[in-house]
Parts: sequence; C-alpha cells; structure tokens
Amino acid sequence: MKNLRASFFLPDPPEAIELRAFTHGLMPKTVPAMMNHFVEDWQRYGVDAWNAVPNHWRPGSGDDVGWWALPVYLGDHFIAPLVGALPGTCIMQPHVHWTVQCLLSVPEVFAGKGEVVLTGAEFPSVLHSVRQWAGLQGYTVRVIPPASDGFVDQEAVLGAIGAETALVFLSHVGFTTGEKLPDAFLARVAAAVHAHGGLFALDGYHATGSVPVEVTAYDADVYFGGLLKEGCGSSGNAYVYLRPGLDLHPRTTGWFGDADPFGFHAAPAPHPEVRMRFLGGTSAVASMYHAVEGVRLFLEAGLDAVRRHSLDLTGLCIARAEAAGLRLRSPREAERRSAMVILEAPAADKLCAYLKQHHVYTDSRQGRYLRLAPFVWNTPDEVHRAFDLIADTLSSGDYLTVEEPEAAGPVT
Ligand SMILES: Cc1ncc(COP(=O)(O)O)c(C=O)c1O
Repeated sequence: MKNLRASFFLPDPPEAIELRAFTHGLMPKTVPAMMNHFVEDWQRYGVDAWNAVPNHWRPGSGDDVGWWALPVYLGDHFIAPLVGALPGTCIMQPHVHWTVQCLLSVPEVFAGKGEVVLTGAEFPSVLHSVRQWAGLQGYTVRVIPPASDGFVDQEAVLGAIGAETALVFLSHVGFTTGEKLPDAFLARVAAAVHAHGGLFALDGYHATGSVPVEVTAYDADVYFGGLLKEGCGSSGNAYVYLRPGLDLHPRTTGWFGDADPFGFHAAPAPHPEVRMRFLGGTSAVASMYHAVEGVRLFLEAGLDAVRRHSLDLTGLCIARAEAAGLRLRSPREAERRSAMVILEAPAADKLCAYLKQHHVYTDSRQGRYLRLAPFVWNTPDEVHRAFDLIADTLSSGDYLTVEEPEAAGPVT
C-alpha cells in the first residue's frame, strides 16, 4: 500500500502510538489548508459562496461547486466510490441519528407492516431511535439477542424476517464486538427481507474507510455511516446511500430538501431526487471542508490495499496478544475481522491507563476489555512495540499499581 503514515499528523511525542482509529481518526495533513479555504471563501464570497466557491475538493476537475451543492457533490465524488455506489445515490448527512430519524419517519415503509428487526448491539442512534418511533409509526421492535459466542446470531436474524418486517437494521461492523458481518450473510438478509417487501438498512460506520464496501453486493436499500472514525473526516460528517428506485418521503424533510426551497410556499413539496429529501435545515458548511480528506487518501491508496494492511496488523495484534496470554473477544477469521481488535484483559482500565502513560493509546470497556485498532498510519514495528510493553507489564503486574485510571471517556 502507498505509505499513508506520512499523510497524517501523528500524535506527540514522536514515540507515541495511536491505536484508536475507532474513536476519532487522525487528521490528514491536507485539512488545515482546507479549513483555511473555508475561512477565505466565507471572507471573500460571503453569501455568494452558497452558489459558487473554487473547487477545493476536486481542483482541476472543472466542476462548479457552491455550498448549496456540497452535500450531493461530496456524495457523488467521494462517498459513492467509497461504498461502491453510483452517482446520484449518496448525500452527506450531519450524523447517523438524523438519517435514522428520516428513515423511520417515512410512512410508506410501514404501510401494511408491523415490525422492525434489529440486534441489541446496534448503536444508540439506531436502537434508541427505533424504540422512540415505534409508537408513532405503530410497529413493534424485535431485538435479536447475540449468539452464545457474543456475535450476531445470523440464523436468528434470518428466522425473524417475515411478512410483518418493515425494516431490518444491522451493523456492518459491530461497535462493541468488532465483528464484520460476512457479505454472503448480508446478501441473505437482503433477499429474505425483499421477499416480503421490506427494506434492509446497514449501519456502516466502522466499515467506512477500513473495509471495501459494495452496497450492491449486499443489496442494501439504505447504507449509512460517518467519517469521524476510521473515515478520518472528523465530526459533522455522516452520509447515506439510498438504492436507486427507492421512493421514500421522510416526514422530517426540511426546507433544504424541498423541491422549490426559495419559493417559500405554504406547503412542502418533495424534491424529485430522493436523496435530497434526507436534508433538513441549513447544512453545516465548515465540516464539509474537512469531511473527505481521509476518504481521498483511502480512494487513492485503494480500499483493498487499506484492508490488506489492516488485516496484516490486526493479525499481528492477535498473535502477540495471545502469546501474552490475552483472550481475543473480536472475531479471528479475516473475513469477519474489522479494524478493531478487542481483548479480554484483567483490570483492562488500569492496563489502558498504564499504556497511555507510556504513550500507547488504546481504550478499555467495563474494566474487562482492551480495544485497539491498528490503522493506516500504524506500522508492524509499532504493533510490536505496543505489545512488548503490554507483555512486560502483564508479567510484572506494574500496571496494577496505576492510580485512579480515568473513567472511560467520551469515546465510542
Ligand atoms: C455503529 C455506529 N453507528 C453510528 C455511530 C454514530 O452515530 P451519530 O452519527 O448519530 O453520532 C457510531 C459512533 O460511535 C457507531 O459506532
């Protein structure tokens, strides 16, 4: 793979090892210039920037861009190739929560149907939203518990899909397990739900930027995710893909998604492009200046190469972790691995705090699990150094004397 390490700002001090791509990706080196462009565009063009600014996203392409069109422009030129979709199907979103609100507000999704199927391991932006809308849309929520190994119970998911199923939500990569659902299973889910006229929605947050995504191979109707984490685009930048031909009318559509926004008519009119109906009020512009700088790097390097690098490093992590006596809690097989490795470690919160004091950045959960994600900027040497430290401190017990490990912070 083209060496992407040099394309990111690495943390201080120079020996630090950043292993938390699942929380907030590092900043691509092109971001400061992009943010300067935002400042300059606002300063120079003011209100006219909504119509036209220089094309900083694809300089030399000859394409006209303005702030108004950025959500679809980035959708066509960066998100669509990232998820294997055609232009015209993807649009930027402020966050996943908004996308899910829009989807659940579509009346026709629930016409003649009474159930939404999902696993208990969906992120709250999905799980809570599905529960919140149940009464409003009159459906029941069917939560599929995990299998005995803690991973998605694939047969139970398939078995739950029937004539009543309006929607199935799954996570392409589970945020608590690191499990990447196999393509063949996703395609089976799509076939089952489509056989009954329902929709299949996939939360691809942790797949975005770390795994080659092919929405058409899984036949997903809706695929959404965000660029904060492995996508390296920071916050305010999520996206949605909508299968061509899907005609949805979210009740939450705002005036930015209206067919004639500057007509200021008394009643709303649905935009002819379905993806536009997933817009609410005024789009946040500044975040779109840093949104796709990570995506640009991944597309240039090739997602297959990014994935190979990730699999090499996660494979190394697993081997070193098991040699140090730690139990693997995320999947072992390459096809089911994501960028995330989860290990069971005694006093994992103290281990995480000890590692942080030694500038190795991981995170911990419930005092039991150590989570880490070696990513595009990491090298095999860094993984070895991190695990040399882990192995040493596990055998000496030094880390157990760490005082007051930080409570798990605002990381997901
Ligand atoms: C699987 C998954 N979906 C969604 C999100 C984020 O949702 P939102 O953009 O609504 O904050 C996360 C964040 O951690 C996540 O892990």
